[in-house]
Amino acid sequence: MDTNSIDLTVTSPPYDDLRNYNGYKFEFKKMAYELYRITKKGGVVVWIVGDKINKGNKTLTSFKHALYFQEIGFNVHDTMIYAKKNTPFMRSNAYTNGHEYMFVLCKGSPKTFNPLKEPTVRSGIEMLVHNKGADANNSKVLKELKKEKTKSNIWYYAVGLGGSTKDKIAFKHPAIYPEKLAQDHILSWSDNGDIVFDPMCGSGTTCKMAALNNRKYIGIDISKEYINIAQKRLVDTLGVFA
Ligand SMILES: C[S@@+](CC[C@H](N)C(=O)[O-])C[C@H]1O[C@@H](n2cnc3c(N)ncnc32)[C@H](O)[C@@H]1O
Repeated sequence: MDTNSIDLTVTSPPYDDLRNYNGYKFEFKKMAYELYRITKKGGVVVWIVGDKINKGNKTLTSFKHALYFQEIGFNVHDTMIYAKKNTPFMRSNAYTNGHEYMFVLCKGSPKTFNPLKEPTVRSGIEMLVHNKGADANNSKVLKELKKEKTKSNIWYYAVGLGGSTKDKIAFKHPAIYPEKLAQDHILSWSDNGDIVFDPMCGSGTTCKMAALNNRKYIGIDISKEYINIAQKRLVDTLGVFA
């Protein structure tokens, strides 16, 4: 792939050896280096990753990945959280794991940021602090509360059928992420017509959401089986595979 050619990558690697994806080998450092090379200046890579627990000890592979990306030149623009609204109980001596990391890596500073908004909790007119002087006297004025604010960097999604997607075929892949998660990143870090890439596209979630949001997409997976699923899903839901 060409150097400096990709606007945005949204992807999720195999997590340690939690699932073996038919035994394919995943060379993290090589992939990290190539992602840096092909990303445009100001382009973003969203790296979504969790950790395995080895005999009661979390691997922290997620953090090791983030540190390595930083070492090879990416700015770690944000460490976001993908929080799952519904998760099965997993460990008797720890809280149920309900999140993964979404590292937002950038080659320089993001050339695109379209912040997603959410409604403010309260609305209407309220006495708001206008000026806090050095004497600690607050002058208050009656003002309209803003109706919405920029979202926080903790994003919540329902997972599973109907949550991640309604496409039954996607569940032939063992580890998909929610369509809305991919879409939220695509809208935040890219514009219409930009190229969105997923080098480990699995069931094709990133590709589908890129196409639905008028972006171009490139999806790669080492498994022919998963590529077949992704292609069929794209044809079923978009009517075309291009
Ligand atoms: C966590 S899954 C991605 C799932 C995807 N985000 C989705 O929503 O369907 C990781 C994917 O990485 C693929 N993979 C593993 N090693 C790879 C490699 N060396 N090159 C490309 N893809 C690889 C696996 O086949 C698997 O589909």
